[in-house]
Amino acid sequence: MRTTWLFLALIVTAHATYAQSPTNPYRYQVQKQVTARHGAVVSAHPLASAAGVQILQEGGNAVDAAIATQLALAVVYPEAGNLGGGGFLVGHLRNGLNITIDYREKAPGKAYRDMYLDSAGKADTRLSQEGHLAAGVPGAVAGFFTSLRYAKLPMKKLIAPAILLAEKGFAITEAEARNLNRYAKMFRQLNTRPCAFVKATPWKAGDTLVQPDLAGTLKRIRDKGRAGFYEGETARLIAAEMQRGKGFITTADLKAYEAKERTPVVFPYKDYTIVTMPLPSSGGIALQQLMGMVEDYPLAKWGFHAPQSIQLMVEAERRAYADRAQYLGDADFVKVPVEQLTSKAYLAERMQDYEPQQAGSSATVKAGKLLQESMETTHLSVVDSEGNAVAVTTTLNGSYGCKVVVGGAGFFLNNEMDDFSIKPGVPNMYGLVGAAANAIAPGKRMLSSMTPTIVLLDKRPYLVTGTPGGSTIITSVFQTLMNILEFSLPPDQAVNAPKFHHQWLPDEIHVEPQFPADIIDSLEQMGYKVVTLRGTIGRTELIKVNGDGTLEAVGDGRGDDSAAGY
Ligand code: GLY
Repeated sequence: MRTTWLFLALIVTAHATYAQSPTNPYRYQVQKQVTARHGAVVSAHPLASAAGVQILQEGGNAVDAAIATQLALAVVYPEAGNLGGGGFLVGHLRNGLNITIDYREKAPGKAYRDMYLDSAGKADTRLSQEGHLAAGVPGAVAGFFTSLRYAKLPMKKLIAPAILLAEKGFAITEAEARNLNRYAKMFRQLNTRPCAFVKATPWKAGDTLVQPDLAGTLKRIRDKGRAGFYEGETARLIAAEMQRGKGFITTADLKAYEAKERTPVVFPYKDYTIVTMPLPSSGGIALQQLMGMVEDYPLAKWGFHAPQSIQLMVEAERRAYADRAQYLGDADFVKVPVEQLTSKAYLAERMQDYEPQQAGSSATVKAGKLLQESMETTHLSVVDSEGNAVAVTTTLNGSYGCKVVVGGAGFFLNNEMDDFSIKPGVPNMYGLVGAAANAIAPGKRMLSSMTPTIVLLDKRPYLVTGTPGGSTIITSVFQTLMNILEFSLPPDQAVNAPKFHHQWLPDEIHVEPQFPADIIDSLEQMGYKVVTLRGTIGRTELIKVNGDGTLEAVGDGRGDDSAAGY
């Protein structure tokens, strides 16, 4: 009896300490803007940003903080933060080195080009988007361990905040409760085992989400490293889940998975240097094309949201997305003419049929002619006191990925297979079309749009940014950069100003609900079809390094995104 009381007393004490931690997991606030002296983290959730800052204060650098923030997001932001998905890290280190780490998911060994076509050749996008067959081999955990090469602290320390959050739980936000309720029916239909995300009554803001299975997986990673996920118990649980749901991922696929360091896309824009992600993300190449196509026009003079400025940017977007659909895919598998696609001469040629005040047409503007020789993701930005900057975008693809939680392991699997072109011309969940370059093949990485980006000024970090949003990621990053580099908006406005988006097909401009009506009228008079979306575009996390060294961190107003710093 005495022992029981003592045990209970210990639990109560531990719980009290946890609840008194710098950011109380049961009572925390979203902070949209922070000005910091030493270091800052901005991510999709206040508890994840707090975990990152805690690591900075414990002596970690920006890479350490980025790893800890991602691990915390895997717990507190299950719709996109993940162990069962993948992502990209772009870094600028204080020694001047630019790095990128690719931990994109891969098609399983059993995958094949026409795996989502029925016997009549009709594509079934439900299979590429929902359930076990939609999942690619997860890359996130391999990405964390490859990132450790540039970190200072051991994984044991970086993973500790995530383990606590999974084991002891945290209060969910209203947005999280809404999302969990929205997908409850699919969770029930698609899962083969009980999971922490399904309960008898609807979720509400303030409910505590405890994830014991996920805590177990995190502890295996802590104790066994990469093998704690890609081999042993976790791999066995993933393979068993796949067998129950007739998915393709095997223990051999998991063991063979490798994250890769890639050569960053680096290009000048006026006085700035842009550092961003190469293939298998289309983001860096498309951003270079977009910025290259508009650079010689007087955007700053025309002004922010001037119809002329928007039209020019839309026409650049039409052309970049046409090229994306035709030419881009995993460069480990297909030859991609990157140099031509991004050359100044090619980009000038692409804009030759641009007519001011007159809408172009995607029926006539196709992918450029080349010489023959040739809805849910999440972003975090970190800057530390040493001058390191890191931008990371990770994804499960749709909200909660394929909606399948690995039985006994507690995390959602991605539905990234839908980012392949499952049949030429068939749109994926973001309406993007593709061709042979992005067809499915075993072991191939599906084309992404994620665009984690760092802007350097005088060789030092100036902006660190990125966003979720599927196909709109590239145009959101493009607009955020233009809003600052050309239109001189303050960081919070650069992030929160209503956005527009064009992706070649469908041939229409999508705008956010708050987009000014008079601008829509002007665009329609030029001949554009403008569609006002019900939802929003992107959730951009931005850190701007001011001239005096202070850091302005901005979390997008469109979600629970939150900035933290010290
Ligand atoms: N799943 C979204 C992307 O990678 O572009």
